[in-house]
Amino acid sequence: MTALLDIQGLEIASADKRLVSGLSLRMAPRERVGLIGESGSGKSLTALAIAGLLPQGLRSSGYVRLSGQEVVGAKERALRQLRGTALAIVFQEPLTALDPLMRVGRQIAEPLVRRARRDGETLGKKELERAVLAAMQDVSLPDPERLARSYPFELSGGQRQRVAIAMALACRPRLLIADEPTTALDVTTQKEILALLDRLVTERDMALLFIGHDLPVVAGAVDRVVVMREGVAVEEGTTAEVFAAPRHAYTQSLFDAAKRFDQAIGGGR
Ligand SMILES: Nc1ncnc2c1ncn2[C@@H]1O[C@H](COP(=O)(O)OP(=O)(O)OP(=O)(O)O)[C@@H](O)[C@H]1O
Ligand SMILES: [Mg+2]
Repeated sequence: MTALLDIQGLEIASADKRLVSGLSLRMAPRERVGLIGESGSGKSLTALAIAGLLPQGLRSSGYVRLSGQEVVGAKERALRQLRGTALAIVFQEPLTALDPLMRVGRQIAEPLVRRARRDGETLGKKELERAVLAAMQDVSLPDPERLARSYPFELSGGQRQRVAIAMALACRPRLLIADEPTTALDVTTQKEILALLDRLVTERDMALLFIGHDLPVVAGAVDRVVVMREGVAVEEGTTAEVFAAPRHAYTQSLFDAAKRFDQAIGGGR
C-alpha cells in the first residue's frame, strides 16, 4: 500500500510535559479513520502536527509523511504548499476558519483563486463568481446568491460549517481532517453535516481523518478507529471489531458512557 499518511513514533511535547507519545498511524488513499478519545487525549494536537501547525512552544519529533512529503522539521514554505494541496482541516467551531468582517462569497473565493493559481489557471471575474456559487451548491447551502453577500454572523451555525467545508475543499485535498466538526451543532444539523461530509468524501475520493469523542458519531463515519488516551493510542481496529469486542478497558468505558448518555436522554441510536 502506498500510504497517503504515514505516522511513525510521533511525539509531541511542551517544555515540561509529553502530550503525545509513540503514535503510529497509516492511512491509504480514500480510507476513513476515526480518532477517538476523551478531552485532552491529544487528538487535536495530532491533527495539527500532521498539518505542521503545532502552536508555539510545542515540539514534535518522529516521522510524519503526507503524500510522500516529510512534515516534521519541514520548512514553512513546503508546509504551506502541502496544506494547499494534500490536506485540509475542518474545525469544531467554524468561526475560527472565517473572517467575521468579510462577506462569505469573498471568503470562499480566496482559496478558489489560490487553487487556480496553483494549477496554472486564471479565473475571470464571472468565472470566479460561478465557481463560488458552485462551491456553495456543492455543500448544499440554500440560496447561494444571497448567502454569498452575507457576513458570517448572519448565517446559522450549520451554514457556517458548510462554508468552512466549502473553503477547505477548494484546494481539492486528498486528506480531509475533520476535528469535531459537528460538536457545536444541534443533533439535526449534526446529522446533516455528517451526511454532507460522507457524500463529499466519497464523491471526491478523499481520505478522511475524523476526530471526536462521541463514539457512535465517529463510528458511523469511518471504517477504522484509533482510540487515544493521555497521548497514547491504546486501541486500533476496524470499527466493527472495536465495537464488537473492545479490548481495552478504556474503550469499554467510552462505550458505557455513550450508552448511559443515550439512556439518560431516553433515546438510542
Ligand atoms: N499550546 C499548548 N501548550 C501546552 N499544552 C497544550 C497546548 N495545546 C494543548 N495542550 C495540552 O495537550 C493535551 C492534548 O490536547 P488536545 O487539544 O490535543 O486534546 P483533544 O484530545 O483534542 O481534546 P478535546 O476533545 O477537548 O478537543 C492537553 O492536555 C492540552 O492541555
Ligand atoms: Mg480537540
